[in-house]
Parts: sequence; C-alpha cells; structure tokens
Amino acid sequence: MLSNSTNRRVFLQGASAAAIAVGVSGSVLAADPAEKAVVAVIGTGGMGTGHVRTLSARNDVEIAWLCDVDEKRLASAAEVVKQAKGKSPQITRDLRQVLDDKTVDAVWIATPDHWHTPAALLALNAGKHVYVEKPCSHNIREGRLLVDAAQRTGKVVQVGTQSRSTACVQDGIQRVLNGDIGDVLISKAWNSQLRGTIGKSQPGMPPANLDYDTWLGPAPAVPYRPNLLPGVWRWWYDFGCGDIGNDGVHDIDVALWGLGVTTHPHRVSCFGTKLFFDDDQQFPDSQYSVCEYAPDPKTGKKKQFIFEQRIWSPYLQEGYENGAAFYGTKGVLIMGHTIGWKLFGPRNKLIAERTGSADLAAHHTNFLDCIRGKVKQTNAHPMVGHLAATIVHLSNIAARVDSVLHFNPETEQISNHEAAAMLVKRKYREGHWSVPKDV
Ligand SMILES: NC(=O)c1ccc[n+]([C@@H]2O[C@H](COP(=O)([O-])OP(=O)(O)OC[C@H]3O[C@@H](n4cnc5c(N)ncnc54)[C@H](O)[C@@H]3O)[C@@H](O)[C@H]2O)c1
Repeated sequence: MLSNSTNRRVFLQGASAAAIAVGVSGSVLAADPAEKAVVAVIGTGGMGTGHVRTLSARNDVEIAWLCDVDEKRLASAAEVVKQAKGKSPQITRDLRQVLDDKTVDAVWIATPDHWHTPAALLALNAGKHVYVEKPCSHNIREGRLLVDAAQRTGKVVQVGTQSRSTACVQDGIQRVLNGDIGDVLISKAWNSQLRGTIGKSQPGMPPANLDYDTWLGPAPAVPYRPNLLPGVWRWWYDFGCGDIGNDGVHDIDVALWGLGVTTHPHRVSCFGTKLFFDDDQQFPDSQYSVCEYAPDPKTGKKKQFIFEQRIWSPYLQEGYENGAAFYGTKGVLIMGHTIGWKLFGPRNKLIAERTGSADLAAHHTNFLDCIRGKVKQTNAHPMVGHLAATIVHLSNIAARVDSVLHFNPETEQISNHEAAAMLVKRKYREGHWSVPKDV
C-alpha cells in the first residue's frame, strides 16, 4: 500500500491517464480506492467532528491532519480518529501548516462561515481539493471568488449541502424536473423550528483553550464575548449569516434545484425582524423573502422563489419542520428536510411518496469520486453553492435595508440602493494573512 503521496505520484506517472484525475498543481489520485486519499479536517466543532466520524469509517481515506483553534475540540476529534483507526492524526491550530503538507490531497472546511471562502481560496491556491461547508460564502463577492478559483485551479470543490447526494431527494427532484407536476413556476423553502435564545453578554476574556485571534481570522477584530460560542457565532453579522444561511440554505438549495434555475434572481424583497427573541442576535427570527427570476430566454416565463422562516415555532409547517415545496401547473411536491416527500395531483390526490434521510457519507463519496476522476462534477459544485448562498445574502441585505433590491445576475451587483450595494462585500481585518486578494 502506498500511503505516501510523493511515492504515489511517482508510481502514477506510469499509470493510465484515464484512470487518474489530474489537477493543475499536480495532485494526482488513483481511481482505485485502495489508494487512500490523504485528507485533513479544518474546524473540528459540531459538524467538523461529524465529518471526522464519517471519514473515519472509510477505508479509502487517511485522515492525516486535524486543525482547530480550540485545543479541547481538537483533542477530542483526534481521539475519534485514534479510536477508529488506532493511530492519531497530526494536529495544528494553523491551517497553513496543513496546506504546506504536499501529501494532503483534500481538505474539509467546517469552520464558522466567515472563514469558509478565505480558507477555501488558500486551500485551492495550495493545490488542494476542497469540501467546504454551507453556506459556501459569507457574502456575494466571496461566492464569486470561490467559483472563479475552482475554475482557475481545476481543483474539485464540493459544498456541504448533502441533500444533493441523498437518494430520496434526488428521486423527488428528478420527478419535478421530469414534469410530473407540470411546469414549476414557484418553489418555496422554509425553516420553522424552535431555537434557543443567545442571551445578552458583555465583552470578556476568551477561554484559555481558544486561539481567539485566529478564530477571528479575516473578520474585524471585535472583542470576544461569551455568546459567540459554541456555535452561536451564526447570529452575528461578522461571522454568520443567520438561520437562513444555516438551516435555511439546505432547503433553499433544494428548492432552486427543482425550480430549475441556473442563474440569480433579478429582484429580491425580504421582510425580516425579531418578533420573539429579546437578545443579542443580529439576524431576524422571522423572515420572508420573495425572489423573482427574469424571463427564461427559451420559455419566456418568469419564476419565483419564496423563503419563510420562524425560529420560535414548536410545531411543523406543511407537515415538516424544514423543507421545500414545488408548485407546478398540475401538482405539488412537498419535501421535508431529511425526511421524505409527497407528490399530490389535482384535488390533492396523493400520487407518490417516499421517505429517506440525509446521506453525508454519499456526499463524501461523490466528492472523492470526482477527485478520482470517476464523475465529472460534484453534486454540490461551487456554482450550485453560490446560487443558494446568494439568495441568503440578498435576502439578508433586503431585510437590513428594508427595500426591494434590483440585482444584476451577470455583474452580481445591486443597482438601485447604495447602502445595499456596499453589503455585496464585507469589511475585513486589515493586513490579516487570510484576507482574500481581489475582494
Ligand atoms: N452540512 C450540515 O448539515 C451542517 C450541519 C451543521 C453545521 N454545518 C456547517 O458547519 C460549519 C461549522 O458549524 P458548527 O456547528 O460545527 O460550528 P462550531 O462552532 O461548533 O465549529 C466550528 C469550529 O471551527 C473552529 N475554527 C474556527 N476558526 C478556525 C480556524 N481558523 N481554523 C481551524 N478551526 C477553526 C472552531 O474552534 C470550532 O471548533 C458551519 O459553517 C455550519 O454552517 C453544516
């Protein structure tokens, strides 16, 4: 077994070109899964540890590195690998050490959102394939940089919306795209669940186990406060995208897939406010977005996408907590996030249904298959991630400025509102090594 990538690359010089996938920087991985992919997980918190567990169960990968800025989380994720594989991975708090390791083929990025694109760009430029958690960007400009960098480097990118690789979801979407419910003119995604409050806090000292300066990375150097962690950075503008960019983006992605759109909307309106929580959370707890797509050049038809969110609801919506619905001229398909779907015809006749749950391992397999050259494109390639994340960002911007936005899908600029146009990008920490060039 050749576990050393340098040896492996030498060995592969004689291998069949058809059997290998080659990126511009020379990273080569055999189609044969006996040749292990050497990988790293960057960010070993809640979801990162989920990736570590799922990857540890595979025989076709070697987890060479784990990286986290929190010593405790790093140690506990390393223990997961040790228990599963009998060998500890290398650990670091500085992702650049991982990227400097020429033997690493691919990295999984499961940091907070403000690190997603900056880390992904550094990894792509270092010649690594990238699995990056959703939303793939913290703002619209970053999403574009990610799409362009994937194209420029020729590296494989998978965005962490695992519904794209989940058989039950694929089946439902295929029926929608096949015309089983007629022409789908509108789709909707919703996020209806009961979240906890993040309370109110004052700036304080970060815990000793956390390298807070690296945690901040490209974000403005705001003081640490207790209700940034764990996980609740999501509700702060500098680090997250609200629940629309957290749970919402999964179903937004599915809803856009079935709607069949391959571009951005040209008009977006969104009301968003806090009706329930009285805490530090900066994003809305109640949010309603309507996006309109310009007439399709082939059909001449416009389409609409709707998003609804109430994160204070201890009950289901349309039978599912989170989900997506496709409104066709002959029927409707209602899909629950990670649960299944039902297809109704005229007069609500149930025509078909299926249950199933999200398949993270299948999403990993699809990424690895693409690196090995077995499939041409990942199921959640960067443009798919960018389209869904852009809905998140435009909706949040429209809610913040309380206006209908006119968006140019080609230039990815807001044309009718000066303050909103500024929010297509964000403010970075001046001089930090992680700040992307050309932002
Ligand atoms: N695909 C899914 O179903 C799913 C589910 C949950 C979360 N997520 C995504 O995963 C990401 C992480 O979410 P979470 O809930 O695990 O958050 P979390 O806060 O629990 O974990 C993030 C981890 O990243 C670490 N980190 C921060 N900066 C880092 C850096 N520069 N280098 C290395 N590590 C760094 C933190 O210390 C923390 O351990 C989010 O983007 C979220 O949207 C995806």
